[in-house]
Amino acid sequence: KTTAAVVTCGGLSPGLNNVIRSVYCELAYNYLVPRVLGVRNGYMGLNPDSGLRMVELTPAFVDNIHYLGGTVLGSSRGSQEVGVIVDTLVRDEIDILFCVGGDGTQRGAAAISDEVERRGLKKAVVGIPKTIDNDLHYVYKSFGYDTALEKAEEVLRGAHVEARCAPNGIGLVKLMGRNAGFIAAGAALASQDANFVLIPEIPFRLEGEDGFLTELERRVLSKGHALVVVAEGAGQDLFTPSDTRRDASGNVLHDDIGILIRDHCHAHFKDRGIAINLKYIDPSYYIRSTPANAGDRILSDQMARMAVHAAMAGKTDTLIGYWHNELVHVPIRTAIAEKRQLDLTSDLWTAVMRSTGQPVWRV
Ligand code: F6P
Repeated sequence: KTTAAVVTCGGLSPGLNNVIRSVYCELAYNYLVPRVLGVRNGYMGLNPDSGLRMVELTPAFVDNIHYLGGTVLGSSRGSQEVGVIVDTLVRDEIDILFCVGGDGTQRGAAAISDEVERRGLKKAVVGIPKTIDNDLHYVYKSFGYDTALEKAEEVLRGAHVEARCAPNGIGLVKLMGRNAGFIAAGAALASQDANFVLIPEIPFRLEGEDGFLTELERRVLSKGHALVVVAEGAGQDLFTPSDTRRDASGNVLHDDIGILIRDHCHAHFKDRGIAINLKYIDPSYYIRSTPANAGDRILSDQMARMAVHAAMAGKTDTLIGYWHNELVHVPIRTAIAEKRQLDLTSDLWTAVMRSTGQPVWRV
């Protein structure tokens, strides 16, 4: 008489509803698990003080949710008292908890797993990695990344058209990704039109002979337009340390590098007496709130089913990783030990350099 529960936490990622649906289908139809609960609004829904009630998943509940963006269970950031969460697991007789989320969520999952072990309980905690940022170790590609890239690339295409059709047109697009440049680099590569890609992994200077603004000026004067992609976590050294703020989970809240670059561009070209047409675009949440594309639907389904197999085989404290083209089981702690950034020797980055041909990363 197993009971399982699934919780979706953190920022949205295309494919969340596909995971919920596939976890349910695999448990209910293949393992005949009679009771599968959906936790409302992330870890908050495991705290009775929140007033949120879990929902019992049924075929009707999961019907058609795989076509929707977001998560039908709702999500939230931040942690809850781990003892309170485990009390809830005991009270509601939950044997297996599937934690769908990124780095912060998996830290929470590891803490829950520790508390379960400390109390000598027989319960499984299995992580399913979710982040459009693609920054989890041992997860070469997380579900949602591909869809976010697709949406980001559409935005780059629009920005490129705008830039080309205006005298000295500059398209400046800021893309999400937290402390990693996967989305910016991937979208730039997919578009084939980006001339500059600024990512957190590569420090750069704005001013000076070899600074970004001079390179941009050269490009604009020679070709008449430019497309610049900036990852939200790029150029953080351009802000003073006192600008560094953190959210409830301890993640650094970035000041807006896109706006900083936009303002410096205007000032630079004005100083030189060069008229430009700069269009700044920040698609922000648009790239992650959309339904999953075909690739992400497949990946989220496979990860969800793999998570169920892991739990039913008696595994706990396990994250579903994706490494060397295989779905693998990784101890949660190993996956969260450090965050992944874009490897500058990787094929992805080499291809971006080849396609943009612009060395903007000098310190
Ligand atoms: O981690 C996913 C992500 O979309 C990041 O790219 C971004 O920095 C962050 O979440 C913003 O999330 P929110 O505003 O929902 O906290």
